[in-house]
Amino acid sequence: MRAAWYERKGPAREVLEIGGMPTPEAGPGELRVRLAASGVNPADVKLRAGASDYGYRFDRVIPNSDGAGTVDRVGAGVDPAWVGRRVWLYNGQRLGRAFGTAAEYIALDAGLVHALPDELGFAEGATLGIPAMTAHRCVFADGSVAGQTVLVAGGAGAVGHYAVQLAKWGGARVLATVSGDAKAAHALAGGADAAINYRQEDVVARVRELTGGEGVDRIVEVDFGGNLAIAMGVLKRNGAVAIYASDGNPKPQIDVRALMGLNAALRFVVLNSIPPEARRQAQRDVTRWAAGGERLFPVAARFPLDGIVAAHELVESLDKLGTVVVEP
Ligand SMILES: NC(=O)c1ccc[n+]([C@@H]2O[C@H](COP(=O)([O-])OP(=O)(O)OC[C@H]3O[C@@H](n4cnc5c(N)ncnc54)[C@H](OP(=O)(O)O)[C@@H]3O)[C@@H](O)[C@H]2O)c1
Repeated sequence: MRAAWYERKGPAREVLEIGGMPTPEAGPGELRVRLAASGVNPADVKLRAGASDYGYRFDRVIPNSDGAGTVDRVGAGVDPAWVGRRVWLYNGQRLGRAFGTAAEYIALDAGLVHALPDELGFAEGATLGIPAMTAHRCVFADGSVAGQTVLVAGGAGAVGHYAVQLAKWGGARVLATVSGDAKAAHALAGGADAAINYRQEDVVARVRELTGGEGVDRIVEVDFGGNLAIAMGVLKRNGAVAIYASDGNPKPQIDVRALMGLNAALRFVVLNSIPPEARRQAQRDVTRWAAGGERLFPVAARFPLDGIVAAHELVESLDKLGTVVVEP
């Protein structure tokens, strides 16, 4: 099969190679998927660049964790009815697995694969893994959001936009922060009830105004350290902050007494290792939600496998709306 890989970490254009590799076989409990789309997420490019490390020590890595395609073989113990089904998948290059989705085929545990609703193309399906499942965890890990107010920081981001849509689906009122008009329009199109420009407005004052001074029950946070003052200013007593990134300030100082006074819950999230049942629930819910109509599955750009360097560089540029997809 054709695949992209790297054998050392570094800049995309220096370390990514494309060529032929043995086509994997489906082992016991596994499915083999003929991949039509591979999602490129920030975590994939950080791993390739050496900016993050889950302790993996592989001689060769096929990057990218998410994907979508068609099952073409099953291993022992897997229902043959899967063959021919359209699917989406996550954790391709995670949890001790070296070979991800930037390839024509992947063989992986059947539990990482879920049926792709007919409403979605493969590119859209490849946006569901990390972005939508992380959003699901952040929105629902602390219980139902029905009737609550949720603040989604970065509501136009790949994760943030799914958090906006899933929180609305869950019955919440959703406020989103954004950095400009195009991102405001994107967050509002996803169902946000209000978009607040965090570069130009006083977010705390605006949230207080929009909530009659009450603040919010939940925050889905893309930059916990950078936005800590906002959380401290708007979180209601007994509220929860779900934190999936903190790139603006990875090591913030927190005011324990103030957070105790709020009875606040700080929930840290790394999708690939949340409890297995929570992951299965996210797969089921995301699939059900995706099939519900009137959904947005933002694809920022599509590249052929030969364009994987450009795809990784576009993710690193931070200048994208949605998920960058490679089509092997
Ligand atoms: N923990 C996990 O399991 C997990 C899963 C997925 C992603 N992540 C991490 O989460 C981050 C975002 O991933 P993504 O795929 O959603 O990236 P993305 O599509 O680039 O979205 C990030 C969004 O956050 C916005 N943003 C950045 N700083 C902000 C701030 N201080 N306040 C409000 N908005 C801010 C960005 O817009 P502006 O810069 O224009 O504001 C952008 O819209 C990355 O660091 C990624 O590695 C973690």
